[in-house]
Amino acid sequence: MKILVINGPNLNMLGVREPEIYGSATLAQLEELVRSHCASRGAEVEFFQSNHEGDIVDCIQAAYKKFDGIIINPAAYTHTSIAIPDAIKAVGIPTVEVHLSDIDTREEFRRISYVSPVCIKTIKGKHFAGYIEACDLLI
Ligand code: DQA
Repeated sequence: MKILVINGPNLNMLGVREPEIYGSATLAQLEELVRSHCASRGAEVEFFQSNHEGDIVDCIQAAYKKFDGIIINPAAYTHTSIAIPDAIKAVGIPTVEVHLSDIDTREEFRRISYVSPVCIKTIKGKHFAGYIEACDLLI
């Protein structure tokens, strides 16, 4: 079982960025948590973070026939991107959408996700635990 974890724009700023919403832990700490959880479950995991929509599309395309599952936090692209869900559909890899915060209880514009319809599940508002839940679901 090989899982790809993709984090979108500004998630490289975790720990600094709005800690009251996203917490004070860093992206490196999130990746370490997921890495050790996957290892304990016998799954392989790789990580990708980008602030660029096209790079995320390229990463999803490159996952074709290489990964069994994708965990994606598309961050702000959740609410704007058609290219990311199109790429997920194109590769046909089971994908779980994760958000650290509960996007339903924040600003109105965050309630729309163009990515949700192509994912097997959306997990929101559970902070880092959401990524662990997503791993378990895919495994
Ligand atoms: C986010 C929620 C998005 O609305 C926001 O743009 C992010 C992070 C989350 O993890 O809660 O960058 O995806």
